Amino acid sequence: MSNNINRRGFLKQAGAVVAAGSLPLSLVEIAFGKDSPANFSFAYISDSHITHIKGNEFVRNWDRGLKRAVAEANLLDPRPDFIFYGGDIAQLGKPEELDHGLEILSGLRGDVHYVMGEHDYYLDLGDYWKKKLGPDHYSFDHKGVHFVVLNSILTYDDWTNNKWPTAAERMHQMARLDNPQGSPFMVGDAQRDWLKQDLDKVSKDTPVVVFSHSPIQKIHKGWNFWTDDAEQVQALLKPFSKVTVIYGHVHQIQYNQIGNISFHSAMATAWPWPYPSTYRQVESYLPRLTVEMNRANPFFERDATGWQFINLHTGNVDMSYMLPGNTNRVVAFDTATGKPVDTRYQAVANRIPPQVHY
Ligand SMILES: [Fe+2]
Ligand SMILES: [Fe+2]
Repeated sequence: MSNNINRRGFLKQAGAVVAAGSLPLSLVEIAFGKDSPANFSFAYISDSHITHIKGNEFVRNWDRGLKRAVAEANLLDPRPDFIFYGGDIAQLGKPEELDHGLEILSGLRGDVHYVMGEHDYYLDLGDYWKKKLGPDHYSFDHKGVHFVVLNSILTYDDWTNNKWPTAAERMHQMARLDNPQGSPFMVGDAQRDWLKQDLDKVSKDTPVVVFSHSPIQKIHKGWNFWTDDAEQVQALLKPFSKVTVIYGHVHQIQYNQIGNISFHSAMATAWPWPYPSTYRQVESYLPRLTVEMNRANPFFERDATGWQFINLHTGNVDMSYMLPGNTNRVVAFDTATGKPVDTRYQAVANRIPPQVHY
């Protein structure tokens, strides 16, 4: 019963031998039935924000989060079929940062699929990332599931090409929150045309899992928890019976259901973002479904980072969030209501009392 799943239960179920501890990656299990030969799992790591200081120096805390995720991924048993990286390897898009992050990630056993983050992109418009990792949007089929990767962090050509005196200035502007000089993210016409053609070849009862960096839904514009053409992308996904969008970028738990599409965020290995409304009273469309994550101890560097594993049972996603030093959470698809719910904390009366922020 996925509602009662916990780390120990999962490891027992998976027959895994993994050292105890909560680590910043996700193990994703795709399940098509108890004994189906199609069952498989994959791991998910995101938002490491490797930050160059000078020479060979990098911010050590961010290095550690990523190294720990790689170590944990390598201990997974059974082996995940592949690993996803959800974007923002680098902090300011520098080749040194991408190289350093990729060197740590090269320790992973298994194939890795990459998603472009805005911190990887806005220095050189993704040139170095693409040289190292290949195309920024692509799709593939694996054991009955159609996987799609989108670059959702593009913006208007005029902002990108004509507004800033240097590439470094452009990168700094896009890295800021609440920036009136910023610009909203989008997938863009060319990729939406590609997506339409790609999906035309897929039967409508095939489970589709889409990976983007920013959410393909609109949550909070000031922090670019937002994709401007979200509705147009959602419309292309509408004909499919089971669709899940998994995204990074927000460094916090979020979940939502829009029509046939379930949305889930993944955790960061670097740092947590507070929920927009707790930080500043500004307009936010944080999904009403989302029970916000309680930060038990903001002085513990790993609190509110974490990892989760995901069961995609008969095509619907269940996320189990493992939160070091905090209370673990399970967000599972409820077939009765047709949306994801927190299995313990969805009812207001059951919620963990919110922490007071000073
Ligand atoms: Fe990020
Ligand atoms: Fe990001």
